[in-house]
Amino acid sequence: MMPDIALDTYEEADRNAMADAMAVMARAFDPAYGEAWTLPQLSGVMLMPGTWLTIARTDAAPLGFALVRSVLDECELLLLAVDPLWRGRGVGETLLRDSLRTARRRGIISMNLEVRSTNNAIGLYEKVGFEYVHRRPGYYRGNDGQLHDALSFRKDMHM
Ligand SMILES: CC(C)(COP(=O)(O)OP(=O)(O)OC[C@H]1O[C@@H](n2cnc3c(N)ncnc32)[C@H](O)[C@@H]1OP(=O)(O)O)[C@@H](O)C(=O)NCCC(=O)NCCS
Repeated sequence: MMPDIALDTYEEADRNAMADAMAVMARAFDPAYGEAWTLPQLSGVMLMPGTWLTIARTDAAPLGFALVRSVLDECELLLLAVDPLWRGRGVGETLLRDSLRTARRRGIISMNLEVRSTNNAIGLYEKVGFEYVHRRPGYYRGNDGQLHDALSFRKDMHM
């Protein structure tokens, strides 16, 4: 069942919000792929104008987050993650739809993203209307040295 969640959006490098995102980060990403960001990477991008971080919480505990960076009228979903204990209950979809709403409110016309071709998140992106754009062979290197293709997706806001 969908938990009772609050979504809080931050446009500045808020320490507590970044700590919450890092707590989810540490649990959400499979270390095999080396996809989790470090705190300096997260705070670096939060210092760039046009970035926003949305944290989903229940009873103040962080369940997931979305990180988006916009440049002019386009934006990119940089990260989307949900704590493994809270998956499959709509938290990721809620975060993604909220990010799309925020983007639309800001006059942004499209959201882009890049994802490892074997990532289950693709099911979520397609469900909310992202369309496949192209494949970059061997774009990601896992910690075991294995290469993985990247797929890029795009959603136009008017669709
Ligand atoms: C991807 C991720 C954010 C999904 O979060 P979630 O809260 O479990 O997703 P939701 O419960 O909101 O799922 C919504 C829809 O997404 C799709 N989906 C989610 N997880 C899926 C899975 N493991 N396999 C296939 N489809 C999936 C389904 O269509 C689902 O809709 P349905 O429940 O009606 O079938 C989560 O699995 C995660 O944190 N993964 C690790 C981090 C990551 O790789 N992020 C993406 C790249 S940054």
